[in-house]
Amino acid sequence: MIELKNISKSFGTREVLKDINLSVKEGELISIMGKSGSGKTTLLNILGFFEYLTKGKYYFEGKLIKNENQMSRIRNMNMGFVFQAYNLIPRLTVYENIMLPIYYSLDRKHRKERIKGVNELIEKYGLIDIKDSFVENISGGEKQRACMARALVCDAGLIISDEPTGNLDENNKNNVLDMFKEMNKNGKTIIIVTHDKQVENIATRKYFLEEGELKEREMVAD
Ligand SMILES: Nc1ncnc2c1ncn2[C@@H]1O[C@H](COP(=O)(O)OP(=O)(O)OP(=O)(O)O)[C@@H](O)[C@H]1O
Ligand SMILES: [Mg+2]
Repeated sequence: MIELKNISKSFGTREVLKDINLSVKEGELISIMGKSGSGKTTLLNILGFFEYLTKGKYYFEGKLIKNENQMSRIRNMNMGFVFQAYNLIPRLTVYENIMLPIYYSLDRKHRKERIKGVNELIEKYGLIDIKDSFVENISGGEKQRACMARALVCDAGLIISDEPTGNLDENNKNNVLDMFKEMNKNGKTIIIVTHDKQVENIATRKYFLEEGELKEREMVAD
């Protein structure tokens, strides 16, 4: 699905990511751990085309990605995002937040198809009772479930997530982890950045960022 070849990223003279190679195959659930400041969010921003790379090549489904049109199309059609900070719009309702990507990402034909699935998602993520609540008034666990529904609303194949459990208590965290597992079982490819061993444990492949270098971790049970 994705192939990063010898990617580097600098801010000014500071090289934050150094010569990174990463291949993401369909159906994988990849975790990326690393200390604060090691470049995890920067790497996700590059994967989601929110940041330009300084050096290297980005292939998506075998195609070298070079221009902005390709980038925004892939971001809109193929990717969903779940962040620690939620990035929901506080003055919109849960329902309106979940609907947003349908309006800004899809053309009219795809829109119609996807709108049909929205209620099902709302039900699945336990949001029926609060679907008309303003997001500023709901709990952290509810916010994260709304984010997951929003990430799936355009039926993206790849879910990119930065610290999805960072603000959640144990119970809500387990809930969110089960949801990621289920998404993955249903065929979604997932990339999760995390500080949390428990999150890493659901991964099918584990990476570790250290001083800008990406290393694969051996899969040992612990
Ligand atoms: N837009 C930017 N301009 C300048 N420096 C930046 C920018 N974005 C990130 N950095 C720097 O790059 C380094 C990596 O940041 P990044 O946010 O990727 O770290 P992280 O691994 O996600 O950390 P955390 O675990 O705290 O979220 C940091 O030193 C940060 O200050
Ligand atoms: Mg970060």
